[in-house]
Amino acid sequence: MRICIAYYSLTGNTETCSRNLEKLLKDMGHDITCNKVENIADVEEYDMVVIGFPVHCLNMPKKVKEFLNRIELREKPIYLFCTYALFGSA
Ligand SMILES: Cc1cc2nc3c(=O)[nH]c(=O)nc-3n(C[C@H](O)[C@H](O)[C@H](O)COP(=O)(O)O)c2cc1C
Repeated sequence: MRICIAYYSLTGNTETCSRNLEKLLKDMGHDITCNKVENIADVEEYDMVVIGFPVHCLNMPKKVKEFLNRIELREKPIYLFCTYALFGSA
C-alpha cells in the first residue's frame, strides 16, 4: 500500500513519532512517503494518508489546517494523530 505520512512538528516530537511509524510501516512492506505538510504538494498518488501534528493552544496548528484545506481526501482513508503535553486535544 502507498502511504503518505504528512506531519507538522515545531520541536521534534511529532517528527520522531512520524519517523518511527514510517519505519514500522516500511518493515511491514508498505511504500511510505514521510514528509512535512509544507513539502507535500498533493496526496493523489497515495492509498492512505496519515497526518500527525502537535496540539497548539488546544487546537490544530494553522499549517495543518491549511494542508487539510488544500489536499483532496475524498474517498481516501485518513488517520490522524497528535502529540501534546498536558492539556486539551485538537
Ligand atoms: C505554542 C505551543 C502551544 C502548545 N499548546 C498545547 C496545548 O494547548 N495543549 C497541550 O497539551 N500541549 C500544548 N503544547 C505542547 C505540544 O503540543 C507538545 O510539546 C508536542 O509534543 C510538541 O510537538 P512537536 O515537538 O512535534 O512540535 C504546546 C506547545 C507549543 C510550542
